[in-house]
Amino acid sequence: MSVHSNVKKVTTHVLQEMKNAGEKITMLTGYDYTMARIIDTAGIDVILVGDSASNVMAGHETTLPITLDQMIYHASSVVRGVNRALVVVDMPFGSYQGNSKEALSSAIRIMKESGGHAVKLEGGQEIIESISRILTAGIPVMGHLGLTPQSIYKFGTYVVRAKEQDEAQRLIEDAKALEEAGCFAIVLEKIPADLAARVAKEVSIPIIGIGAGSGVDGQVLVVHDMLGINNEFSPRFLRKYHNLFQEMLSSFHRYIEDVRSGDFPNDEESY
Ligand code: KIV
Repeated sequence: MSVHSNVKKVTTHVLQEMKNAGEKITMLTGYDYTMARIIDTAGIDVILVGDSASNVMAGHETTLPITLDQMIYHASSVVRGVNRALVVVDMPFGSYQGNSKEALSSAIRIMKESGGHAVKLEGGQEIIESISRILTAGIPVMGHLGLTPQSIYKFGTYVVRAKEQDEAQRLIEDAKALEEAGCFAIVLEKIPADLAARVAKEVSIPIIGIGAGSGVDGQVLVVHDMLGINNEFSPRFLRKYHNLFQEMLSSFHRYIEDVRSGDFPNDEESY
């Protein structure tokens, strides 16, 4: 199928209809053209160009170092591989916090230069001004609450968030504030399943979970984790659909052996 063929594209309105109809929303991360093309061909609803690219593509320990230019590079590569899915692009650390004018100009750069369809920001009431300003430009915004990796130095660890009553209550209020501001969906990361289910019931926009149980409107995973390419990360919430680390390793071993032994290339592989 051509990348520009005439399929019904997933929009933010389609996601809302899916929630209303009780249909689960599927989302995976993607950072490059080749992977995005495979994920989109599989029929995924949303591809998130996550700032987890900072970890899985660039090898940083946290998501903080990735820049706006680098996110735009990843997002534009993904957009070229996508025919149907909604492409949501993470706004990187430092591009939207504390200054709503800068937030708007960062979001405009992402939309103009990458061709993505929406942006995602981490945080609740403390970034509502930035979210509102971005929305005034007609740019759809996805929220992200619970474990927000850009705040890892505030949290100190990647453990489950909002287990205590006061943090859970604040998360519910944040979700309602994001809905009221006009976000089209919210990611809830690593929080108790019953709290996530409650949020999904109490707000009308789609709630996409990662480590947030099954009572939400959809699920997202980091593609390198679910394929088992990353063999250093095995949290409880992750289902691994493959062990690509091992499979790729054995292909590389065989290639090295074949070249060293003179078996590759053979006559049929030569001109
Ligand atoms: O950057 C990312 O991959 C994310 C998902 C974990 C939701 O934000």
